[in-house]
Amino acid sequence: MKRQLKNNVYWIGKIDWELKKFHGDDYSIGHGSSQNSYLIEEEKTVLIDTVWNPYEKEFRNNLEKEIELKKIDFIVANHGEIDHSGALPYLMEKIPDTPIYCTENCVKSLVGQFHHPEWNFKTVKTGDSIDIGNGKKLIFVEMKMLHWPDSMATYMTGDNILFSNDAFGQHFAVEELFNDKAEQCLLWEEAMKYYANILSPFSPLVKNKLKEITALNLPIDIIAPSHGAIWRDNPIQIVEAYGKWCDNYKEDQITVIYDTMWDGTKKLAHKYTEELKALSPDTTIKLYNISQTDKNDIMTQVFKSKAIVLGSPTVGMDILSPVGGWLHFLKELKFKNKKAAVFGCYGWSGEGNGVLRKMLTDAGFTVIPEEVKCNWNPEENDFEQVKHSAKKLIKELE
Ligand code: FEO
Repeated sequence: MKRQLKNNVYWIGKIDWELKKFHGDDYSIGHGSSQNSYLIEEEKTVLIDTVWNPYEKEFRNNLEKEIELKKIDFIVANHGEIDHSGALPYLMEKIPDTPIYCTENCVKSLVGQFHHPEWNFKTVKTGDSIDIGNGKKLIFVEMKMLHWPDSMATYMTGDNILFSNDAFGQHFAVEELFNDKAEQCLLWEEAMKYYANILSPFSPLVKNKLKEITALNLPIDIIAPSHGAIWRDNPIQIVEAYGKWCDNYKEDQITVIYDTMWDGTKKLAHKYTEELKALSPDTTIKLYNISQTDKNDIMTQVFKSKAIVLGSPTVGMDILSPVGGWLHFLKELKFKNKKAAVFGCYGWSGEGNGVLRKMLTDAGFTVIPEEVKCNWNPEENDFEQVKHSAKKLIKELE
């Protein structure tokens, strides 16, 4: 059922409590999610985005209970990714001539996915607008690479609502819809996880886009993203948070991350944790085993950290594969201005630290020279090396 956002603007999406994974299995969902679609009923009736295709029938049925589908004057597709466009083909079966307003890149994406070049696409660019009656307009703002080349936001004058699509969203189910009704701790945790794992690579673009949006000087009463809570209580708070997150974000935190074969590297990891805490009592120190912790959650902790300490034993003249896969993901996220130290045990050849160092450097981290390379099982001398490396890392961070 539709639910009111403000005046004649309604939410008509899907609260997806059961969702556990997103982007295939690449993004873990801890507290559900939502695909937010919006219905505007001014003199013109407008649908903004749809939902993922598993919910296409439910979505179209819900819409039909609210309005006669033929009454929809046009659809705005802010983004072609399937979680927002998946229900379009099923909907368009009933209203095949309805105009779809979207960016040129979005046409490519929608045609590429659904193979309907005959749909009535109307391409728009930043600054284009369309009258929806009752003195209100929709203004389009391209959001290129936030997070796809086709992404766009739509601003509604009069009610001052920014339909921001993925930007400012969270994978978080909030049955009550609005940010002031959500559990605050979880809301911010999920908003940061979403930024760290999805938007981080595009931080320089986020910075420019925020400046561009701010320069437009538009009053914003509501930010209505396509996932999670809708920001109606002080919506600018999420814009301000993005302002911080896109600017080489870090807190006073160091995160120790490792994997282990026979617990030698694990012992070094725990010793690092102990030493770092002793050396810098006010710094938040956290420790994670890569194989036993959700990779997106570790990434959020890395996003918050000013430095990481990463360990893997040498195996097959390389590192353990869970660490290698994780480092590949780390490189994708393009974190900036963070430091690192490496450590690991070996039995025979000992290439692990070199591999860690190279992959971290490729991922944009500054790796300090002081490392811990332990032959077989750690003993006192190795723990002294940990102390030395931890001391140097703390010094580097001063
Ligand atoms: Fe980029 Fe929510 O899709």
